Amino acid sequence: MADFFTLRTVTWEGDHVKMVDQTALPAKLTYVSYSTPEQVASAIRTMVVRGAPAIGVAAAMGVALAARRSKASRLPDLLRDMESSASLLKSARPTAVNLFWAVDRVMEKARAAPTVGRARDDVSVEVMKMEDEDVRVNREMGKRGAELIRDGDTILTQCNAGALATVGYGTALGVVRAAVEQGKLVKVIVPETRPALQGARLTAFELSHDGIPCTLISDTAVGHMLSLGRVDRVVVGADRITRDGYVFNKIGTYQEAVLAKRHGVPFHPAAPASTFDLARVHDEVTIEERAADEVVRIRGRRIAPKGVPVANPAFDMTPPDLVTSMITERGILEPPFADSIAAMA
Ligand code: MRU
Repeated sequence: MADFFTLRTVTWEGDHVKMVDQTALPAKLTYVSYSTPEQVASAIRTMVVRGAPAIGVAAAMGVALAARRSKASRLPDLLRDMESSASLLKSARPTAVNLFWAVDRVMEKARAAPTVGRARDDVSVEVMKMEDEDVRVNREMGKRGAELIRDGDTILTQCNAGALATVGYGTALGVVRAAVEQGKLVKVIVPETRPALQGARLTAFELSHDGIPCTLISDTAVGHMLSLGRVDRVVVGADRITRDGYVFNKIGTYQEAVLAKRHGVPFHPAAPASTFDLARVHDEVTIEERAADEVVRIRGRRIAPKGVPVANPAFDMTPPDLVTSMITERGILEPPFADSIAAMA
């Protein structure tokens, strides 16, 4: 198979962070560079970078920038500067737990350092490690998940859980890529994923780039496709999976899970261990509510009357009884998920 989408979505360049500008896709593949934590927080908020693992790594790099830029000469002062950027970065988006996990991981590294110089160095090394680890973990998860995929399968996904949602390779799309690498013929059905259109703009772009057959559908066609028997398996990403087995992912995932159950189609979230929130159960998670403008406009053009009330939840929650199994880099988790999640941790 051709050379898979090998670019890195987020990279650490020593004194700045380089990212693919996902708001410009699919029209243009361009990069942006940020040298302050404030700029990185804004890029996360405005979805220049998005997808749970990618925003985690980007936020960690934002903290590393804070360490570099701080003028502190004493460790407590450096940590205070870093903490303040860490809080700003954590406030950028509330649902993906990877953001919190990644920021805490670099802060822990800094706290363990004996000197200011070592803290700066250790944090830089840690973010480079996280960048490489992300791709490695996704490849491992892909390999394990691909064992579930049969030659000729058509897979329904949601949003973009691909290379662009991670540093590289992807979670749900990593499973697809690994199946293709194993020589299987796989097709993907891609819902457009209103309102931000990650399916149409990003997933269709990535899959087309890799020559993996895909069909773009409107979000409203999901049930129809399942009812016609056109889907063999649903594979989606996740922004957070709580210890009681509830899966938080892009809005529209829950309806896929319900309809998949109705039509006897297996449903699998694919997520790295860093997406599991072992400290929380489902009703303790905040689902991000985004601006009404995303719903009343498509690519800047108003499509609804002025003043109409709008709800714009960015994520939804799929209960564990709709999940067949969960794909992780540590193996396939089977129900009951509260037990298999605890055993994986
Ligand atoms: O709002 P987004 O684009 O950040 O949402 C992304 C998703 O919901 C993905 O499915 C999820 O982060 C998993 S990505 C590997």
